[in-house]
Amino acid sequence: MPVIEPDVSRARRVGRAPGDGRLRVAVLISGGGSNLQSLIEAQRDPDYGIELVVVGSDRAAGGLQLAERAGIPTFVESVRSHPDRAAWDSALTARLAAHRPELVISAGFLKLVGADFLREFAGRYLNTHNALLPSFPGIHGPADALAYGVKIAGATLFFVDEGVDTGPILAQVAVPVEDGDDVHTLTERIKVAERRQLVDQVGRLARQGWTIQGRKVSIP
Ligand code: GRF
Repeated sequence: MPVIEPDVSRARRVGRAPGDGRLRVAVLISGGGSNLQSLIEAQRDPDYGIELVVVGSDRAAGGLQLAERAGIPTFVESVRSHPDRAAWDSALTARLAAHRPELVISAGFLKLVGADFLREFAGRYLNTHNALLPSFPGIHGPADALAYGVKIAGATLFFVDEGVDTGPILAQVAVPVEDGDDVHTLTERIKVAERRQLVDQVGRLARQGWTIQGRKVSIP
């Protein structure tokens, strides 16, 4: 199994002046961006270790305004503006690569990326999913968990591979399913834990680096 060792040497130097030594992070969103907002707040502390260099979307997502307000460059690359999915994937990859991100985070980005993207960002594309994988992949995680009748739900942070929600797992957090929960209450409970997990783990990646060997993600 190959060991993917993203070049995160820069990220080990924390506590420097803004723009110097922090991990360059791009975020992709399709919705309200509450996970993005948690990262925006976290990056204000230079010791946290990241610099948000760009926020992208496949649509006019509400969360783009959060980035604009924080002075972070944004872009929209819609699938419909390209002749096919592969052309969109190449364009998305190029838009991100222009900002030289060392880590790309899908935080509620509802599109599956393709071969160009995965080649460019192999081992550097992180997704937060609102279910405890491998259960309930796809875009209806909390609803599917509720329908199944599980008593524990949660969120999974993983590095994206060619499959749908199948990549190597970095971290998971569990929350209880309460009697009387509906999709809304369960989704919101998961999101609170999910945002905390995202901020904690991205900070660790930035400050300590990471390796991926097969399905095992390690932070030294
Ligand atoms: C997150 O719960 C994520 O797991 C799911 O979409 C949600 C995005 O929420 N795929 P937000 O846009 O960050 O508020």
